[in-house]
This record gives sequence, C-alpha cells and structure tokens, in this order.
Amino acid sequence: MGYGAMVLGHGAPAVIDAVKSQLENGTLYCVPTELEVKLAEMLCKIVPSAQMVRLVNTGSEATMHSIRLARAFTKRRDVVKFAGGYHGAHDYVLAKAGSGAASLPASEGVLDSAASHTIVVPYNDSAALERTIEKCRESISCVIMEPVLANIGLALPEKGYINEVRKVTEQNDVVLIFDEVVTGFRLALGGAGEFFGIKPDIATFAKALGGGFPIGAITGKKEILELLAPSGGVYQASTFAGNAVSVTAAIAVIESLVEGKNSIYPQIARTCDSIVNGIREATSVLKLDYVVNSIGSMFQLFFTSEKVRDEATAKKASAQNFRRLYDELLKREVFVPPSQFETCFISYAHSEDDADRTVDAYGEALRRIAKK
Ligand SMILES: Cc1ncc(COP(=O)(O)O)c(C=O)c1O
Repeated sequence: MGYGAMVLGHGAPAVIDAVKSQLENGTLYCVPTELEVKLAEMLCKIVPSAQMVRLVNTGSEATMHSIRLARAFTKRRDVVKFAGGYHGAHDYVLAKAGSGAASLPASEGVLDSAASHTIVVPYNDSAALERTIEKCRESISCVIMEPVLANIGLALPEKGYINEVRKVTEQNDVVLIFDEVVTGFRLALGGAGEFFGIKPDIATFAKALGGGFPIGAITGKKEILELLAPSGGVYQASTFAGNAVSVTAAIAVIESLVEGKNSIYPQIARTCDSIVNGIREATSVLKLDYVVNSIGSMFQLFFTSEKVRDEATAKKASAQNFRRLYDELLKREVFVPPSQFETCFISYAHSEDDADRTVDAYGEALRRIAKK
C-alpha cells in the first residue's frame, strides 16, 4: 500500500489515464502551470486549514521547509517533536524518529548543532508538552506532530489531547505543524484536520496525494506561507516540484476522492473494522497477549498486554513475535509492512473477500505463534 500512499489501490484507472494523457503534453516545465494552480485551489477547498499551498516532491521536503517557515515566522530556533514521530529523513526531525529510523539509536552524520535544536517529548502527554513550552518559550518556533502517531506502529491520540496541543501552542505563539503525510486524504478527505476538527497553522501532505506518484504539499495560513520566496524571504525550490506528471496524478486522485467521498471513506473504514474485529474474534480463546490499534483505514497489532499509546509502550511489544507474524502472514499471501513500527493500510480496492482472507491468515498465524 505504498506505506499509506495508495488509498485508491494500485493502478487506479482515473489516475493512470490522466497521467498517460499528460505524458503526451510534456512532463516538466520548471515554471508554474495552470495545473498547479488548479491543484492548489482544490487543496484550499478541502483542507480546512489551507489558505495557501506550495508544492514539493516528498513528505520530507514538505516538513523541512515548514520548519524553516516556522523559524522565519516566529524568529525562534527550536523544534519540538514527539518520540516515535517520523517526519522524513532530514536533520531536524531525526531525533527519536519512528519508521525505519526507530531501529537506529540515532542517525550518524547529523550535526550536534542541528540536533541540539530539536526537543523531543512523549506523545499523549500534554503536561510534558506544556512544561517544555513553558520552559523554552523564547526559543521554540514550532511543534511538529503526526496527529495520529503512525510511524511507531499506530498510537491514537487520547481524548482531548490534540485540543490541548492546539491550545498550548496557540497560547504561546508557537507554530503548530500537522504532518499529515500519512493521515492526509486518508483519515478523511480533509485529513486529520477535518477528522478531529482542529486547524493547525501549517499542514504537510504527500503519500496519498500523489496516488503513487511523487508529490508533497505545504499548506497553511496565508500569513506564514506568503513568507516563501518570491513573495517572502524563505527560500524553497526544486527542479521537479510541481512537475506536470505528479500534479496531474494528484488532481485525478483528489477528483476521485471528492467524487467518491461518501462511499470511499465509509468503505475503507468498514473493511478495516472487519479485519480488526475478525482478528479479535478468531483469536479470542488464544493464550496470547496482543493489542490491535485502529482508526479509519489504518491498524496495527502489537504483542503486548499493555495499552500502546506512545513510543515507550510500542517499544515494549515483542519484536520477535512481530517478525514471526510477518513471516506467517507472508506465507499466506498477506503482505504487511515488514516492521512493528509501521502501520497497515486499507485501500478502496480491497474487498470484503480480501478482508476475510486477511482475517483467516492472521488467525492461523496467531494460533501458530501462541503454540510456541
Ligand atoms: C508522517 C510522515 N511524514 C513525512 C514522511 C516523509 O515522506 P517522504 O518519504 O515522502 O519523504 C513520512 C514517510 O513515511 C511520514 O510517514
């Protein structure tokens, strides 16, 4: 599922047909095009916090430039991120990062002088965030968060938590960046911002936006986004940003999602629920400690008896059992992301039949693991 990118499934005809016809017209112009304007206007309509848009190629670029924007806007240096949150592979966000980086102590090659400006706090702990912001109020430019922590397995925000994060950042003039690279166009058409009813100052997107083609977007408040050059002094550029192929794919994705909104989002959530409930039912008699977290079209299973609510609790789960689960599932033709610190995603192309096969495979795999 392209780590969450393929909401519509692989080879969605609307996306492939649009891209095929664009290929005949050209792929890269390196000047703004009408296509970019069209996509930006679509994003401003569907993303609740989006007033302006800048297109980039990847999620990493989107978060990197958002942090630079937040620094320029607040004239402060430091970045607060959450333990287990992953925002791409650049220097200011690699501290205690999730996803593939979760298995490294800390990436080599990151300058101490860069890392020293990143403050890490635990997710789902609003008191810890408040204390940090109070202590370093003069130096914190932004808080960057995955609204749903999807890169440490899957940890959901507890009741009121995101509201608290919004409140404390607002009160202290700290820019709140929702990294919606996973949740964007997946949790709801308007992403986590729409799902939780909270407006960050900046929201970044990638993955699902491109339907399998490389594209990212920085969206947010006009007063912040207009600091980007050429209207402002924050530099961002890339040869391939806004290339006609990726933008065409993204327009086709968004058009499909807007058109099918009332069937796509309920269907992918229903398929996910069937799998999660099916796994629980199929294994209710097993003597095996595990929990499954899920939201919308996302789920993950952890071998632990404790509630998984942050990086610390996710890391207590048995990695060895997860490895076995992965192998047993693959033998049964169910291919989940090969790490405990990733999330499983459902697409619109998955049928109830696929859900049943998945439940059977999990059931058999878990029974085998419970035996040893
Ligand atoms: C939440 C989040 N932000 C940013 C990124 C980086 O995106 P990209 O791999 O497109 O650079 C990822 C990638 O997995 C992600 O999950």
